[in-house]
Amino acid sequence: MHAPLEKKKGFSPDQIAYLVDAIAQLNLHEAFAPSNGSTAQGGSEPEMVHGTPIEDLCKEELAKYQQHPLDLRLRLERWTDRNEMAEGLDNFLLRHWGFFNVAPNSPGYMMRMRIPACKMRGDQMLVMAEIADELAGGYAHVTTRGNLQLREIEPKNVLEILDRIHQAGLSCHGSGADSARNMTAAPTSGFDSQELIDLSPYTIRLSNLVLNSRALQGLPRKFNISFDGGGAISSVSDSNDICFQAVRVGMNEAGVEPGLYCRISLGGISGHKDLARATGALCTPAQTVMVGAAMLHVFVEHADRTNRKKARLKYLLDAKGVEWFLKRTDEKLLEMDADFQLIRLDDAHDAPRAPVNRSGHIGVHPQREVGINYIGVALEMGRLSPEQMRTIGKVAMHYGGNDLRLTVWQNILIPHVPDDQLSLAEAELNAAGIATKATAFAAGGVACTGKWGCKFGLAHTKADGTRLIRHLEQTFRLDQPLNIHLTGCPNSCAQHYIGDIGLVGATMPDGSEGYFVVLGGGSDTDRGIGRPLCGPIGSDELEAIVGTVISNYLNQRAPGQSFLSYARSLTDEQLPSLLERAS
Ligand code: HEM
Ligand code: SF4
Repeated sequence: MHAPLEKKKGFSPDQIAYLVDAIAQLNLHEAFAPSNGSTAQGGSEPEMVHGTPIEDLCKEELAKYQQHPLDLRLRLERWTDRNEMAEGLDNFLLRHWGFFNVAPNSPGYMMRMRIPACKMRGDQMLVMAEIADELAGGYAHVTTRGNLQLREIEPKNVLEILDRIHQAGLSCHGSGADSARNMTAAPTSGFDSQELIDLSPYTIRLSNLVLNSRALQGLPRKFNISFDGGGAISSVSDSNDICFQAVRVGMNEAGVEPGLYCRISLGGISGHKDLARATGALCTPAQTVMVGAAMLHVFVEHADRTNRKKARLKYLLDAKGVEWFLKRTDEKLLEMDADFQLIRLDDAHDAPRAPVNRSGHIGVHPQREVGINYIGVALEMGRLSPEQMRTIGKVAMHYGGNDLRLTVWQNILIPHVPDDQLSLAEAELNAAGIATKATAFAAGGVACTGKWGCKFGLAHTKADGTRLIRHLEQTFRLDQPLNIHLTGCPNSCAQHYIGDIGLVGATMPDGSEGYFVVLGGGSDTDRGIGRPLCGPIGSDELEAIVGTVISNYLNQRAPGQSFLSYARSLTDEQLPSLLERAS
């Protein structure tokens, strides 16, 4: 005889999973606490998001309206339990949490960290090495925002990774999609002998303020903020939506107290051929936090929510003007109970920025304090193995101050190494295969992920870049800095328009991979957008064509002239002469 069937209590696991998802989709939080600027005006009035009717929102805006990105945590629980990847608009929403489904080019999730001011600790690098080894693809990359990225993460590991990085005092929140992205500061902040002021504390404060402000998550589009304290290594701050640049202001008739301020430039977006424009506005270094937040609020309330191609700050400034934006910022500062307004003064009274040292991110360099140095290690296009990460972390802990700085040049600095420890530290790095010297070609090469790991990629940027640089360093001796930026598509993640040489992925008429070539871009005191030289050229022609350009430059330049200065001395008509091969 069968035992009587026991009546099961509650729901089966599948039923629970279904209900959790269904409830999450209902967005009950919104019924009780609207927080996305939506205005249900009652009766026949259409509902709006910051002035845009719901029916006009683009699909990403609609997704954020239906589910605030912060409220994804419950669904993350389910995806992790089921080892299920977020797809479609869920993938878009999850990017606000730092996890990107980058299928089909790379399996699993890519995770992008958030490392404000590009500053982390040696012991944190050890944790990242462990995660890369145990829960990701066994490697990491330093990115073009002085950040770290891991790949090949199975969805079932997402919550464990979040736990581990939080325990280590790290975060990956707000590093993708419509976030105020990793906020950069000069990597030598705090120990640079030429910097005017260490702006990294304000960078970190603004980053934390944004992460803890619900209204500043899920912006109309991504938003980049950078702080330049005037140090020796550039963070290409003028390619950002907001650039705070430390300046010393001299005597002036406008009654502004001479002293140290941050000059504010706005709307940089190098892929659209625009660097941040001067605004004539200043604030004190400590005021940058409130100013940054106020500007983000103005962006949230006024940027385009119907067309993502026109949603970046540049387009708001083009449409409404810089003066309008500054006035709205002043109003917002009042609303935020700030006790100051923006200072207006043109840059005629600013002392010029000290020149950047374009080789300053590689090798041993003295710090401000006598007898103390930083070591810039060279990485191939930003790639790191867990073993290298461990060595770098340990060297920072044993010989430096447990301090590490990541650079937008896709490498790492180990600061605070005393003179008498230098050779030991370098020997340990070199023994692990980490170079502390590099040719000008290797020091200046940066590449985006490219076709290897990004569905937009038209060319294998990292592999092509590595091959090209090896060829150039075997063929030429170069005594001047040279940056080669490779981006896999016009999205410009490696900012080809501000490289001495910029290579943009393209498809050749026969369907094979190739590049367009641009020349003569730069940032900071060298600011400028590159000019087109040729293309598309096949990937297999890179060595020959870029080699010819370098050879002509070396043969025709004035003694010691930099590539940038030489390229800029050529008119548009003269530029193609760089492609002529010696007969
Ligand atoms: C799945 C596709 C994509 C991948 C894998 C990717 C990868 C990256 C990475 C790793 C960075 C450095 C970011 C950081 O550390 O915070 C970056 C930056 C950048 N990305 Fe992308 N990206 C993608 C899509 C896009 C798209 C669609 C656009 C433009 C429409 C874009 C534009 C940029 C730009 C301009 C930068 C330059 C650095 C900066 O933000 O200032 N990316 N990208
Ligand atoms: S530039 Fe294009 S190919 Fe490169 S990572 Fe960005 S979106 Fe992908």
